[in-house]
Amino acid sequence: MHGITKRFAGVTALADVSLTARAGEVLALMGENGAGKSTLIKILGGVQPADAGEIRIDGRAVLLDGVRAAKSLGIALIHQELMLAPNLDIAANIFLGGEGAGGPLGLLAPLPRAEMNRKAAALLARVGLDSPPTTPVGALTVGQRQMVEIARALSASARIIVMDEPTSSLSAQESARLFEVIRQLRTDGVGIIYISHRMEEVQLLADRVTVLRDGRHVGDLGRQEATTDKIVALMVGRELTGDYFPKKTAKGSEVITAGGPPLLEVKDLLVPGAPAGVSFQVRRGEILGFAGLVGAGRTELVETVFGVTPARAGTMTLGGQPFAPRRPRDAIRRGVCLAPEDRKRNGLVLPMSVAENSSLPNVGSYNRWGWLDRAAERRVAKAEVARLGIKTSSITTKVVTLSGGNQQKVVLGKWLAMSPKLLILDEPTRGIDVGARAEIYRQVAALAADGVAILMVSSDMEEVIGMSDRVVVMRERRVAGVLERAAFSQERIGALMTGAQKAEVSA
Ligand SMILES: Nc1ncnc2c1ncn2[C@@H]1O[C@H](COP(=O)(O)OP(=O)(O)OP(=O)(O)O)[C@@H](O)[C@H]1O
Ligand SMILES: [Mg+2]
Repeated sequence: MHGITKRFAGVTALADVSLTARAGEVLALMGENGAGKSTLIKILGGVQPADAGEIRIDGRAVLLDGVRAAKSLGIALIHQELMLAPNLDIAANIFLGGEGAGGPLGLLAPLPRAEMNRKAAALLARVGLDSPPTTPVGALTVGQRQMVEIARALSASARIIVMDEPTSSLSAQESARLFEVIRQLRTDGVGIIYISHRMEEVQLLADRVTVLRDGRHVGDLGRQEATTDKIVALMVGRELTGDYFPKKTAKGSEVITAGGPPLLEVKDLLVPGAPAGVSFQVRRGEILGFAGLVGAGRTELVETVFGVTPARAGTMTLGGQPFAPRRPRDAIRRGVCLAPEDRKRNGLVLPMSVAENSSLPNVGSYNRWGWLDRAAERRVAKAEVARLGIKTSSITTKVVTLSGGNQQKVVLGKWLAMSPKLLILDEPTRGIDVGARAEIYRQVAALAADGVAILMVSSDMEEVIGMSDRVVVMRERRVAGVLERAAFSQERIGALMTGAQKAEVSA
């Protein structure tokens, strides 16, 4: 890609950017949230046209005037925001629009059903997903849907495969499986363009690194020179120093935690679909982490606590009073908030502005004389944009036009601004760049120090260990163990997650 330029109303997303991908090589494409990574690869995938620039494949200039054109040239894109049809099953999603899909609206099966299922099953085995091909995609977790996307790219036997933050919702184990697939593809001579905010992955996989900053190409690094410090310095345009995780010595949290009664007590809570009840408690000022593989039941559990799906049995108390929310509104009224994992589905109203989205869950508190206090809404939104470094041309910009990571910052920002009693965070830093991540950790720790109890579901082991006071490890929808801070280690949590170690409850 040479001299690629792309403007949106008011924003130059890309200015004269060049990128080279080679066969049999993994190129990592790095940059902060809003740097232009997704925009660049959408141009490569024929999703949107460039305003200027040239794309050459095998040295020959090509016209990528649509997804179909890109596909026929062997380019497969795995999007940051999953693009699957939730009401169709896995096999249909894999082969939808694939080679031969020429039926009316492109929706008719390109292959006889039995063959489609057989081929899908083989692809699913390659990505390590053991759901039957006839499972509706809507019934899958985000992590499992990601695997279906990858299977779909594999089905097109692409020469260039672009992955936009593929591991953002995968467990460590699933990621490891994906890396095997990537290495195999590299050996097979496929050119891979890999976007990620996780430095360990880049160190593990990348043969070269290309860095974007504010829509400009700021550097290419070979494997030897691509140290994390160098990449980060290029990304943010300065050296990033300071502690990543806030110190656990914040005395506020010690004082509040010590011996206080639980704020939330959950007893034998039976989540729909779970084999057994779950019990745990959390005190004011405490950060309780939830570790587990994708599909371990953590999201379902916290959604039940939040009233998304009522519990089938069991009891909860909040501040000593019975707590049985039948919908999220009941929970919000009692001072419980949930920042969800799937921001597109539950967290944001995409056609609304940044300001409207940041006041959304909290409209009550803006309501002075029965109408919405726009000035207060703007004040809160502006503060949030500044604190988290949300890259948006203004607070009236529609959220749908923000980059993925910046959308995630808007979701988190709105909940952090509410100072609830109990804050539930589901994968809080997924897709968020290094700089903003440290700020989010700081804000979460500050809320805890103020006495807010926090439940934090995270598949990022470093994050779980770095932030939590205690960790609940879940496996197959049960509690496999609860570990105190002194007993944390990657190995111990990992062993409980995978069942390599028998259930254990310390203290
Ligand atoms: N359809 C659109 N309309 C207006 N602006 C857009 C549109 N799509 C992208 N942008 C803007 O282009 C810039 C680059 O966005 P892009 O999604 O490429 O960032 P990114 O590097 O992928 O970030 P992230 O790490 O958050 O995914 C951002 O400022 C974004 O708001
Ligand atoms: Mg992106």
